[in-house]
Amino acid sequence: MRVSELKLYHFKNHSENSWSFCDKINAFAGLNGVGKTNILDALYYLSTTKSYFNHSDQQLILFGEKEASVFAKIQKDQEYEILGSFGETRKKTFKKNGKAYSRLVDHIGFLQAVFITPYDVDLVFEGSEERRKFIDFTISQLNKEYLNDLLEYRKVLDQRNAFLKSLEGRLIDTLLLESFNRTLIPVGTRIYENRKKFLADFLHIFQEIHDTLAQSETNVSLKYESGLNESTFDLLLKENSQRDVFAQRTTQGIHKDDLTFDINAMPLKKFGSQGQIKTFVVALKLAQYQYLKRQSNDLPILLLDDIFEKIDASRSQRLMEMVCSEDYGQIFISDTHGQRIKEHFEPFEVAFKLFEL
Ligand SMILES: Nc1ncnc2c1ncn2[C@@H]1O[C@H](COP(=O)(O)OP(=O)(O)OP(=O)(O)O)[C@@H](O)[C@H]1O
Ligand SMILES: [Mg+2]
Repeated sequence: MRVSELKLYHFKNHSENSWSFCDKINAFAGLNGVGKTNILDALYYLSTTKSYFNHSDQQLILFGEKEASVFAKIQKDQEYEILGSFGETRKKTFKKNGKAYSRLVDHIGFLQAVFITPYDVDLVFEGSEERRKFIDFTISQLNKEYLNDLLEYRKVLDQRNAFLKSLEGRLIDTLLLESFNRTLIPVGTRIYENRKKFLADFLHIFQEIHDTLAQSETNVSLKYESGLNESTFDLLLKENSQRDVFAQRTTQGIHKDDLTFDINAMPLKKFGSQGQIKTFVVALKLAQYQYLKRQSNDLPILLLDDIFEKIDASRSQRLMEMVCSEDYGQIFISDTHGQRIKEHFEPFEVAFKLFEL
């Protein structure tokens, strides 16, 4: 799969711009603030219907304007045109070949993208939600039922929590609580099983990529932490119902799952150097890429934003070797120096197109 053309209209700082891309490396170069990351974000938007950085679409509209759109031509088994448009007073729509999706989530998985950005260290330093998002994002690209389960779980969990809140700490009616449990248990258990299966497969890919990248004796690992590892969801909810009433929210379940990251059997967050942490998260993202590729039998697009920051020269070199190989498809990369990035990629003799902004 590849993107042959991109057109932005009032998207962030891009008033009206278009680019046609080559099959391998597409590099955007220019000074700070010219809009390189915004272009990568537009591609991510076309993939996920959301910006990687902004929670509200309103923030994506060029200052002073009312509407924005992102358009791309995608080459898969045939050519597809994807158009995402939104406005101040208009609902967001996504169209494939002119036909609007009735639900935006139906688009997820069509244009698979992996985005590597300096913010990926949030995976290490932020709360567990970031790590659950990473897992959910990956599985959702491949498995529609999983995505539907997540939406359903969130809906019922919100209802259960609203009910617990309404009790104000006093349990009068256990029947209603149990009726929420009956819906939550099968959905939550399916999500757990999917996450467990995914992480078992993912761990090997991750360690392999990390070893290639780091070429050192460093041992890395990740572990899936879930209340469901030691108990059934049914039992967890039953055992904690008093606690839930008291806390006025659901204290156990897959919405509390987490991942722990280790380096040489010690917590990465505390004992990793900046470069080791960066290498770790880049390996996580490349493993995400390889996992998606193996499961879907297609090559996702890879978005690399300021990738060489904090990685030493030999690791950068191996990273370039990796992404230039047949294991990876089309790549979009940003850098402040056009000439430098060109020289970096020249030895690999792959298709290369430079866009100076
Ligand atoms: N809705 C918007 N309207 C206009 N400008 C915006 C909007 N949203 C963001 N911008 C601006 O876009 C500019 C470019 O951002 P971007 O992050 O793409 O730059 P960059 O080329 O990646 O720079 P750097 O080299 O520093 O990473 C920023 O100055 C930002 O303020
Ligand atoms: Mg940038």
